[in-house]
Amino acid sequence: MSLAPDVFAQRRAHFFEALGGAAAVIPAAPLVTHHADCEWPFRQNSDFWYLTGFDEPDAVALFLPHRPEGERFVLFVQPKEPSAEVWMGFRWGCEGAVERFGADLAHPREELAERLADYLRGAEGIAFRVGQHPQVEPHVLQAWAGQLDRASRSGSAALGLVAPCPLLHALRLRKSPEEISRMREAARISAEAHELARQVARPGLNERQVQGVIEQHFLEQGARGPAYGSIVAGGDNACVLHYTANNAVLNDGDLLLIDAGCSLNDYYNGDITRTFPINGRFSPEQRALYEVVLAAQESAVAVVAPGQTAEAVHDTAVRVLVEGLVDLGLLCGELDGIIEQGAYRHLYMHRTGHWLGLDVHDVGAYRLGEHHVGLEPGMVLTVEPGLYVSDRLPVPEGQPEIDERWKGIGIRIEDDVAVTEHGHENLTAAALKAPAALER
Ligand code: GLY
Ligand code: MN
Ligand code: MN
Repeated sequence: MSLAPDVFAQRRAHFFEALGGAAAVIPAAPLVTHHADCEWPFRQNSDFWYLTGFDEPDAVALFLPHRPEGERFVLFVQPKEPSAEVWMGFRWGCEGAVERFGADLAHPREELAERLADYLRGAEGIAFRVGQHPQVEPHVLQAWAGQLDRASRSGSAALGLVAPCPLLHALRLRKSPEEISRMREAARISAEAHELARQVARPGLNERQVQGVIEQHFLEQGARGPAYGSIVAGGDNACVLHYTANNAVLNDGDLLLIDAGCSLNDYYNGDITRTFPINGRFSPEQRALYEVVLAAQESAVAVVAPGQTAEAVHDTAVRVLVEGLVDLGLLCGELDGIIEQGAYRHLYMHRTGHWLGLDVHDVGAYRLGEHHVGLEPGMVLTVEPGLYVSDRLPVPEGQPEIDERWKGIGIRIEDDVAVTEHGHENLTAAALKAPAALER
């Protein structure tokens, strides 16, 4: 079930409200070259997708609150053209943009340069994200410059170029019930894939074979594929946070860390990490560290509720991790002092989570000046503490050297958590994480 057209119409209505008298220019993504004349699979720009649901490259959407009704939502699209479609596939064209995607008016993309200035005339401001759309930016600047050149005679010009992001990303940060249900679907498929991966993992397999099982499940379930480069990291590879080589043999006695999630056809994403023993049995050191990470993760998830902040979720995880590390002798000193000095960062060097939505690291502010953004129902964030014991970072002065028996252990546990009216819903609870469930 994908989102109904009226969901996109409703989003546009909210966006128009936020824009006031400013016009907005929101470009689609272009195709991106992989190598030579081969392109990556197309990935739509999430802002453009959020407002249009239109999944073709090189389009541009105009939102024109200053124009009369029936001329306010304009799409520039690649026109229908059999000789192009025979190579690159179906296009909706201008008629489809109107009939299927609710545009008031639609034009061929190549007419943007000649028509843009007319459409923008009379807007109080122009909302356009500079620095990200090199194919469209010169046209926007030229249109505005033209208005300024003629302002003394025409009597009006847009007062400024403004960023659409604060308006649009505030909308994207708060997910509607329909969006949460799509995220449940992404979470379901992603969690199933993790369960399948654990069932097949055993010593002697290559990381890549496990990656294949995970990504096959994504595709079988109708997702586009992985939401980001799947991380399948045996043993010490798990201490490389963005490990994606996925090409080592799984060793008896090591842990396997898998960070993988699918992206649905409508771009909602899952993002799950699980870590488990490859041979089905934790060593005492692995189990001790695993229990610390699990306690930190569960404590941090428990914090997620309206009125809390992502900062509080992070602080909770750090406190439990540090307490556990002191108990195990991997850190020493007084708790608050260790936390204040960051004397744990050679073992835990990343934040505890991020917003999740159409982008895996989704849009939306975490803080506004000194104020940490309060969690509200509809926001979705990951909660993903970890511990990574290796020689890669120096041990801070005053902290104990690390005994060899701990090294090569990398653990992260990551769930996707939606804020609800009275607390939270763990969307990815179906991926098991209790130590007893991971052993065989
Ligand atoms: N998989 C990316 C992340 O966990 O942030
Ligand atoms: Mn994540
Ligand atoms: Mn992840």
